[in-house]
Amino acid sequence: MNYQSLIEKAYEAMNYSYSPYSNFKVGAALLTKSGKVYTGCNVESASLGATNCAERTAIYKAISEGEREFSAVAIVSSSHDLTFPCGICRQVIVEFGKDIDIIVAKDYDYEVYKIDDLLPRSFTQIDLK
Ligand code: THU
Repeated sequence: MNYQSLIEKAYEAMNYSYSPYSNFKVGAALLTKSGKVYTGCNVESASLGATNCAERTAIYKAISEGEREFSAVAIVSSSHDLTFPCGICRQVIVEFGKDIDIIVAKDYDYEVYKIDDLLPRSFTQIDLK
């Protein structure tokens, strides 16, 4: 799947955003190495702290269906700017590998990063050995 199509899927997921507190809609589309796509949106809570980001929604959906290997994740939002994954999402992304392309997009423009760009010197399972 090309990245523009993955970005479109992230925009479709963004429509489902449940964000009555921030009014900041986020959508994500996660591409598995086998070519499947799992989408997610942010889901807020009145407690605020229980909010789940779009990226983690997509990753948790995929993991809970048996997927472990990912090649890319596209992230879009209702902002006028590119939206980069928050710190917690960066930590969750690195859990599943350092070669995932992290695509941050706004309409037809996008930039691609690796997790080492966004979360350098990360703490991972290697550190637990
Ligand atoms: N949000 C995401 O969904 N992903 C991010 O990486 C950044 C933040 C959401 C969480 C919350 O619902 C809203 O954006 C404002 O922080």
